[in-house]
Amino acid sequence: HKHLLGIEHLAPGDITEILDLAEQYVDLNRRPHKHSDTLAGLTQINMFFENSTRTQASFELAGKRLGADVMNMAMQASSIKKGETLIDTAMTLNAMHPDLLVVRHPHSGAVDLLAQKVNCAVLNAGDGRHEHPTQALLDALTIRRSKGRLHRLSIAICGDVAHSRVARSNLMLLGKMENRVRLIGPPTLVPAQFAEFGVEVFDDMREGLEGVDVVMMLRLQRERMDGGFIPSEREYYHRYGLDAEKLALAKPDAIVMHPGPMNRGVEIDGEIADDINRSVIQEQVEMGVAVRMAAMELLARNLRAAQPESVEV
Ligand code: CP
Repeated sequence: HKHLLGIEHLAPGDITEILDLAEQYVDLNRRPHKHSDTLAGLTQINMFFENSTRTQASFELAGKRLGADVMNMAMQASSIKKGETLIDTAMTLNAMHPDLLVVRHPHSGAVDLLAQKVNCAVLNAGDGRHEHPTQALLDALTIRRSKGRLHRLSIAICGDVAHSRVARSNLMLLGKMENRVRLIGPPTLVPAQFAEFGVEVFDDMREGLEGVDVVMMLRLQRERMDGGFIPSEREYYHRYGLDAEKLALAKPDAIVMHPGPMNRGVEIDGEIADDINRSVIQEQVEMGVAVRMAAMELLARNLRAAQPESVEV
């Protein structure tokens, strides 16, 4: 692959290859000396047109730990504010010969469009409600390490599925790896057409959590609700917030996940989020660095294979 735009384009073997390589980087990241020169000489530009804590920080650390020259574009201070378009901005940076472009954008499809224009490898760091492939990969690595496998698991994805790129990428990945996925939420946030993905849909959270191995909670994505249905937080927490009583319906060893940022007391009880016996939320963040290192290394290998030998100057 030249780019990492979505889970949609990956085969099960591609997913396993990224996760296996990421395992090596988990070990590297735990050492006092975290440096490798795998991406030495390559330039990575991070372009985040939407807020981020985890994805931005982990892509930056991933590039630096692999020895790349990493530049973070401060999009709020860029000429986008003067009316320059996304494509003109991308072509301007493209002219400076980056090798890896990491892009987050509020519009679904914007990252795919940009990838068609530039010469370098593009990694989708989340586009609108479309895909967030590295999130699904880090979730997969977290599940595989916790459960010892990534197949034949029963996984509940709960909450605002309709507006969630995390849910879309996850349900594609988990389906490709032959897991049983359940979507849980009110019909306004889990449209019936999601059944097309071969998943089971529940609006009763207690029914949906029965016997699952993994409980993945989602944030209410108010920024994408366009003034439409916005549930009251109290009512939502009562029906769809993960608390101890609802979690007790899952398997006794079920793990609790959340991609972050989380809203405590809205979709998840703070004590459950902090319970190190059940919650793997911090492990998800840790795996994020390793998975992004692996994804960038694999794209860099393909870049080097496609480019002629570098010339000494
Ligand atoms: N999970 C995730 O994408 O978090 P950020 O928005 O903080 O990057």
